[in-house]
Amino acid sequence: MSSIPPNAAAHDPNLSPRALGVIAVCLVLAALGLWIAMTPSRTGTALIGGPFALQTGDGKTITDADLKGKPFLVYFGYTHCPDVCPTTLAQISDVLKRLPEKPIRVLFVTVDPERDTSALMADYVGSFDPRIIGLSGSPQDVAAMEKAYRVYARKAPTKDGDYSMDHSSIVYLMDAKGGFVEAFNLDRPPEESAKELSSYL
Ligand code: NI
Repeated sequence: MSSIPPNAAAHDPNLSPRALGVIAVCLVLAALGLWIAMTPSRTGTALIGGPFALQTGDGKTITDADLKGKPFLVYFGYTHCPDVCPTTLAQISDVLKRLPEKPIRVLFVTVDPERDTSALMADYVGSFDPRIIGLSGSPQDVAAMEKAYRVYARKAPTKDGDYSMDHSSIVYLMDAKGGFVEAFNLDRPPEESAKELSSYL
């Protein structure tokens, strides 16, 4: 005689295939979602980018509509960043230096709106090419743009009680309609990056 354990249902062999089926469906949907996000649609744009409204240092609001008509670059970071952000902005400046006549705009968008006011962002980008525009806004507005660009950004507490920001570091090349073209490659001589960039201008 064997007694039926109270959690017999959980061990019912008939339920396991169903549970596995549910898991399989979830995995397929997750993979499909990722594929859709990364695959250019029929209009040639992947689902990266979209509407935003953030402020420049002089209090002006810049929206996605203001950027239409010319390709642009977007980079997300923050002014307290010890290395990656200043290095990337210096690399972008090196590329822009080789395109002196080109009216390309580059947005440097904070992922740390708590500390980075739009005035601080403007001051910070003052050390780089003048075509780089520093942008900040309310945490909600910044979060909305991060979501549209699929940016990863999280606070990481430091030992001194302060914090740094872990964040993805992608330079987005966007077309004249605000559609995503590619992650712009700065890991090559600036002449090569400039040549590629100018082919879009
Ligand atoms: Ni950074």
